[in-house]
Amino acid sequence: MKMIKMMALGALLAGAAMANESLALNMGKMENGLNNVQKGFLYNTPALIKEGVKEIDNANALFHNTEATKKYLPKEKQHMSNIAFNAAKRIDKASSEMLAALDKKQFSQASQSYSEIVNACTACHAVVRGW
Ligand code: HEC
Repeated sequence: MKMIKMMALGALLAGAAMANESLALNMGKMENGLNNVQKGFLYNTPALIKEGVKEIDNANALFHNTEATKKYLPKEKQHMSNIAFNAAKRIDKASSEMLAALDKKQFSQASQSYSEIVNACTACHAVVRGW
């Protein structure tokens, strides 16, 4: 019985560790994507902007609904998973808007979506970190 409990605890901890690992990995991708978007705007290189947005979108897919998002929040912040999920949705929306603006060569418009993405990153971090 004790053994089974320990194994269950082990599996639970392993699950939590895996969630942490994929979170850190995905946040690294978010950061890299955001850097590429910024660089793309600074150096006037639309292809790099698009590449960065794609990286952000792929990483942001980790938060595909409220339940999935909840998993990655600290226990005491999980009741705010709605706010966190909304931040992820804002990133999704801003990404599509940015790509649409880029296709029309509306670069100023596209750069506003960049700011919106940064604000949305901060909105979720504010929840997570109690800022
Ligand atoms: C739905 C919530 C959520 C969104 C949206 C989000 N993050 Fe995070 N982020 C987290 C969590 C949770 C952590 C880990 C806890 C912490 O660092 O406070 C984190 C941590 C990070 C870290 C630090 C990672 C580390 O290893 O210390 C970086 C960098 C980061 N995020 C980048 C971004 C960027 C860039 C965006 C937007 C493109 C973004 N995040 C959007 C939830 C989110």
